[in-house]
Amino acid sequence: MLIKLLDKALHKDHLIGKYYIKAPAENRKKLLRLRARFHRKDILARREEAARIADAAFMEIPDDLGFKVLSDYDFPEVPRMLEEALEIVATHDLEKIRKNKKPQLMTGLLKPHWLKLESPFVQFPLRKEVAASISNYLGCVPVITKIDLWYSRYSEEMSTSQFFHCDYESGRQIKTFIFAKDVEMADGPFTAIGAKRSDDVRKALRYRYGDKIPDEAVNPIVPPEEHVVVTGRRGTMLFGDTSRCFHYGSRVEDPERWRLAVLYQFLRPQSFLLSLNYRKSAPFAFLATPDMPRYQRMMLGASF
Ligand SMILES: [Fe+2]
Repeated sequence: MLIKLLDKALHKDHLIGKYYIKAPAENRKKLLRLRARFHRKDILARREEAARIADAAFMEIPDDLGFKVLSDYDFPEVPRMLEEALEIVATHDLEKIRKNKKPQLMTGLLKPHWLKLESPFVQFPLRKEVAASISNYLGCVPVITKIDLWYSRYSEEMSTSQFFHCDYESGRQIKTFIFAKDVEMADGPFTAIGAKRSDDVRKALRYRYGDKIPDEAVNPIVPPEEHVVVTGRRGTMLFGDTSRCFHYGSRVEDPERWRLAVLYQFLRPQSFLLSLNYRKSAPFAFLATPDMPRYQRMMLGASF
C-alpha cells in the first residue's frame, strides 16, 4: 500500500515526480540517488553479476558517445525475429492493436503474451554476450522493460519524438533498435548526438527532460555535421542511450514509406519508469524459469 502511494507520488506528473523527473539533470540526479539507495542490495547484486559475465561481451558501447551501431554480427535468431516482425505487421490492423497515439510512430505492436522463452525476440537479449555488453555500459545487469515493434510513418506535421529530446525514464538506459527493413534517409532515420556533446546542449539550453527542442536551437551548439544519422541495411542494430543522448526519429519524408524496428529497452532498477516494487510488475518476469542463469532472471525482472 505504502509502495503504491510512493509510486504515485513519484510518477512524472505527480507530487514529487514532476519536480524531479521532467526537470533539469541536477534535480533528476537527486531522485535517482535516492531511488538507488532504496534498491541498494538489488543493485549491488546486479553489479556483481555484471562483473562476473563482463568478459562475455561481444562489443563495447563507448561511454563518451553513448551509442553503438552494428551491422556485422552473427546471431542466428535475428533473421527469424525480423521475419516474424514483418509477418506481424502484414497480418494485423496496426491502428487497432497499437498502444500509443502519436501520428508518426505506432508502438505496443508486439504483445508480451505472444512471447515464449524460445521466441527469437526473447532469446536475443538473453544471450550472454548481449547481456554482458549492455550491463558493462550500464554498470549493472538491467531489467528488460520493453520488447516491442516500432512502426514509423509519414506525418503531416512534426511533433514530439520528431524533435530533439532526451528520454526522461532514467539517467542512463539502453534502447536497442534492430531494423526489420533497410533504412534510408527518406525513412526518417534515428538521429543522435553523442553523450558528451549532448552534455554541452543540456548545459547551454538549461534543458529540462521532457522538453522537445527545435533543430535551430541545437545546431549552433552542435552543428549538423556532428549529428549521427543511423541509416543501414535490414538487420542493422543500434544500441543507444536515449537518456544521455539527444535524439529524434520518425521524420519519414513520404506517405509511401515506412520503417519497422524491433525495440528493446533496458533499465536499471532505480529508473523513474519502474515501480519501486518492480519485480511485481516487470512485464517479462513470467518468462523466467528456476534453472536459468542468474543474469537472465535479473534481466527478466524475476527474483534471483
Ligand atoms: Fe526518445
